Amino acid sequence: MYIESPRYTERFGSVRINDVQRVVALDSGLKSEIPPHGAMGVVKISEETIKSFEDKMAIVVPTRNEKLKLFEGVISGVPHDCLVIVISNSERDHIDRFRMESDTLNQMCRYTHRQALIIHQKDTKVAEAMKQAGYHELLDENGLVRDGKSEGMVIGLLMAKLAGKEYVGFVDADNYFPGSVLEYVRNFAAGFSMAKSPYTMVRILWQYKPKISGGLYFRKWGRVSETTNRCFNSLISSSTGFETNIIKTGNAGEHAMSLKLAELLPYASGYAVEPQELVSIFEQFGGSLPSNYVDVMKHGIDLFQIETRNPHLHEEKGIEHLEDMLLTGLSTIYHSPLCDEETKQLIISQLRSQKALNPRKKPPKPYLNRPPCEVNIREFTKFMEPLLKTYFALHEH
Ligand code: GDD
Ligand code: MG
Repeated sequence: MYIESPRYTERFGSVRINDVQRVVALDSGLKSEIPPHGAMGVVKISEETIKSFEDKMAIVVPTRNEKLKLFEGVISGVPHDCLVIVISNSERDHIDRFRMESDTLNQMCRYTHRQALIIHQKDTKVAEAMKQAGYHELLDENGLVRDGKSEGMVIGLLMAKLAGKEYVGFVDADNYFPGSVLEYVRNFAAGFSMAKSPYTMVRILWQYKPKISGGLYFRKWGRVSETTNRCFNSLISSSTGFETNIIKTGNAGEHAMSLKLAELLPYASGYAVEPQELVSIFEQFGGSLPSNYVDVMKHGIDLFQIETRNPHLHEEKGIEHLEDMLLTGLSTIYHSPLCDEETKQLIISQLRSQKALNPRKKPPKPYLNRPPCEVNIREFTKFMEPLLKTYFALHEH
């Protein structure tokens, strides 16, 4: 593919935040005459390079009662060499949706000669493995893994590590276009190939997110992402003393990381998860607070924001859902020790004017699942390794 070269990079301590890079063309051909790196501000990422990263990548698909057709489409879009890991919190009793998902995945794997993992979030063995690891905050009052996409992500990334992968990407199951999924993963690979540090993250920005209102309207910025990005930028500006609008992917649900970085970050419950990742990166590696990872600071963190060619269309879940997303997302910034008074005021005024927070109330503290590196991953692995094959889609359940 051809992608804009990382022309503008802002630094926040040891974090290198790259400005948005657009995909210029989805394909760059097989011929090997590669233009000099960065010529005309465009980089060619060869098919070989993309494939070499896909081979090292697990794609975690969190799902909860999504339409089976959408789920199937998403799976069909993930490049062949990636290991698909489905973490499902779908219904099992009344209608066994989990069974339907497993069957769909099994069929896909049989037809296309690939392997995938599928795990139910309430699997008792997984809960036991988490207990062994001391990951108690991940468990609910019944001793099973709590509900939530973010808790599903934690299972997914630990399984990716167990399966020996180096990178992990997250793609929602409610995406209408399989072709977009293919592009997200290729963009993850492109980002990783440009990273200088082993600690790296790629966040996807959609070129358009169409809305149907009379005709089809190709909207670029949602209200939630616009506000979240503004508050992030206020936080950075107040810290560095230079106004900026570098953050454009504060809420990016579609994102990927090297496992080395993924292990160092906490995972906040609900829609706080993606903003919290950024907040934690700034806290740990931004240089203004003491870091637990001086070694990592030497390498730095490479953050990429890549704008897709494909538009994004997913299931719409209503206005209350958006208010919740805004509130929980902004709470992560509000409660950060990095957050200055001015940014706090901005957050409160935005939340109140968008009716996401009652007057006189403060944003609630996010619920954090500790970074995986702080629990006993070895115990998790020891418990899960012999069971790994039972989670393969091609295994008879
Ligand atoms: N495993 C699991 N467990 N998956 C879940 C759960 C759960 O408890 N709850 C939701 N999911 C799955 C959904 O089925 C979907 O595939 C994905 O997680 C995202 O959930 P949605 O409910 O569709 O979220 P959204 O579309 O409103 O928000 C998405 O985009 C936001 C930013 O644009 C999410 O990716 C957010 O995390 C993101 O901030
Ligand atoms: Mg969705």
